[in-house]
Amino acid sequence: MKVHRPYVKTSLVFLTIFGSLIGAMMLAQLAGWIPSRAWEAHRVAHASFQVYGFVVLFIQGIALAMLRTPRFPKWLIALTFVLTALGVLLAAFASLGVPVWAGRALLALGSLPLLLLSWPYGIYLVSATLWLLAAVLTGSYDFTLWGFATLFVLGLGQRMHPALLAQPAVPRWARPTIVILWNLGLLTDLPALLLLAAALHCAGLRVFRVSLRPARLAWDLRAYLRASYAWLLVACLLAVLQAPPSLTRHTLASGFLLTMMAGMALRIVPALEKRAIIAPGRPALILAGLQVGAVTRLGAQAAGQPALTALGGLVQLLSLAFFAVTLWQTMQPKPLTWINFLPQTGC
Ligand code: HEM
Repeated sequence: MKVHRPYVKTSLVFLTIFGSLIGAMMLAQLAGWIPSRAWEAHRVAHASFQVYGFVVLFIQGIALAMLRTPRFPKWLIALTFVLTALGVLLAAFASLGVPVWAGRALLALGSLPLLLLSWPYGIYLVSATLWLLAAVLTGSYDFTLWGFATLFVLGLGQRMHPALLAQPAVPRWARPTIVILWNLGLLTDLPALLLLAAALHCAGLRVFRVSLRPARLAWDLRAYLRASYAWLLVACLLAVLQAPPSLTRHTLASGFLLTMMAGMALRIVPALEKRAIIAPGRPALILAGLQVGAVTRLGAQAAGQPALTALGGLVQLLSLAFFAVTLWQTMQPKPLTWINFLPQTGC
């Protein structure tokens, strides 16, 4: 049973056709390219589709596919999907008259099974899921991004990334230290603790060191891991320097999280589908597009250049669309021949 498919496919639609497109339109409004209309409705819809529609739904799907034990009730897989997907839609249209509590209630109910799923895997995933519950009940997008999503990545990263980077495991003493520092940093709103935890995690993983053996994959997943962890350190530094919240938030979201989730998805989804990625030449193009888009958008935003920021946002949108099509094609039972105009470089 391919439990990840409805989760991953729906999250890709929320990410590209809704979240990022609305985000790019908002940047075009800020650049004065299009008239500014319904800003508040766009902001709420964009944030809900990106944070809950992509990040939460995607992580739920991959976590259910990889971590669930045979005793995990099958009906709960479908129920979690329906509750979360409906919760996203209600939250996204909250500024158009849908009561705020409606979306929050469904999202909260949809995140409870994740607590059940995470319990056997220890403090990283359990505290991540508790941050998701707190985020949904308080309406804090940052609790989801800094709490739930980042702790999930750090927790799974400590299990999977040493082998992918061909480095030894994170030292035993460092694992509890990192999660305590990270949770403490969020609870006390002290970003210096987050920066310390992120630096310890990257040092413990030896992320930026030369790998001890060549990679087995036909494409460079290590470049994804190194780029995304570099963005994590930059986002924590921006938080310490009290940079504008939108800049810090998007450095974490579209730098660290999008790069990490795209790279790991291009590795995990083909494995779950028991087939090769549709075209091994595409991950390098997707990584290049995501990085050029993020550097341009975030650099220009920091420099107060709205037109260049909007251009960077557009490159991010196109790269995300290319990533979504590539992953969608890889999940198709039969390859979709009508999209063969896309580069099939099989290097
Ligand atoms: C294509 C990439 C993206 C573009 C063009 C984009 C654009 C924007 C714009 C223009 C705003 C409103 C102004 C501001 O607060 O900066 C915004 C807000 C926001 N974005 Fe994005 N964004 C993108 C990706 C993301 C991603 C990947 C996430 C999270 C996973 C995200 C989460 C948010 C949140 C939470 C807000 C703030 C809402 C608030 O003010 O409460 N964005 N984004």
